[in-house]
Amino acid sequence: MRKKVTKAIFPVAGMGTRFLPATKSVPKEIMTLVDRPLVQYAIDEARAAGIKEFIFVTSRGKGALEDYFDVAPTLEQELKKKGKDELLEILKSTNMDSGEIAYIRQHKALGLGHAIWCARRLVHNEPFAVMLPDDVIAAEKPCLQQMVEAYEETGGNMVAAMEVPQDRVSSYGVLDVEEDMGSMVKVKGMVEKPKTEDAPSNLAVIGRYILSPNIFKNLNKMKAGAGGEIQLTDAIAQEIDNPEAGVYGYRFRGQRFDCGSKAGFLQATVAFGLARDDLRDDLEGYLHEVMASRKAAE
Ligand code: G1P
Repeated sequence: MRKKVTKAIFPVAGMGTRFLPATKSVPKEIMTLVDRPLVQYAIDEARAAGIKEFIFVTSRGKGALEDYFDVAPTLEQELKKKGKDELLEILKSTNMDSGEIAYIRQHKALGLGHAIWCARRLVHNEPFAVMLPDDVIAAEKPCLQQMVEAYEETGGNMVAAMEVPQDRVSSYGVLDVEEDMGSMVKVKGMVEKPKTEDAPSNLAVIGRYILSPNIFKNLNKMKAGAGGEIQLTDAIAQEIDNPEAGVYGYRFRGQRFDCGSKAGFLQATVAFGLARDDLRDDLEGYLHEVMASRKAAE
């Protein structure tokens, strides 16, 4: 029996400079998508996939994130007193049980690979998930759950993958495909942020991973790669030739929003707003109005 994936690492140490001035005092992961912080979407997705331990790799200035997952007794009492049971339930669903969540600091911004390495002592010798909360994925079956199910068949290392326009490949880790089996591909190479002309394909890595603990051993020895940073992609690529592991790309079913960019965040806001029964009619009406008046002005 394959060991179950019950731990997930959430690297959230980045400064979020693309969202300044908002991120001057608010961690990017707390920024609101409709009425929930970005990070809550990743947590819900992780829970649906069977994750029981949540490991956050943070940095200075992320205190609001820790408060968010803490119980808020005064607020809860107030809602109880006012009989706002529905809100109380929503609030309680965001609490983390004692011991379920851990925070570890990345003291230097040395890259995603280094951030993951910082969590090595909390993971030990078992497979683990990595979730980048900037990548928000709307899907009928949550993306990580799809991957956990696929991983039960393959084992090894698995990264979420998606075709991106050729002129965007330099923003991603890119896969060199050995064998394409449809939703699953066997990987024979991985390059972090290649130039368009050097990219082996346009199949990009999206921020969901299921990794073997060997990755930590590889990260122990890892030198700086693309952008002068220690890259997770490079540590995963070292597992390609491991006969007992290997690397797979998984084309998930769902729509991915790049909430690390302003355009992506706005698109996600519209999409998640339209998906909500309580907001759809108003929002749809407004969008029609805006489009009609823009057309009229042309
Ligand atoms: C990270 C990874 C990259 C991956 C991307 C997905 O890059 O290093 O391989 O394709 O996430 O969002 P970042 O966006 O943090 O620069």
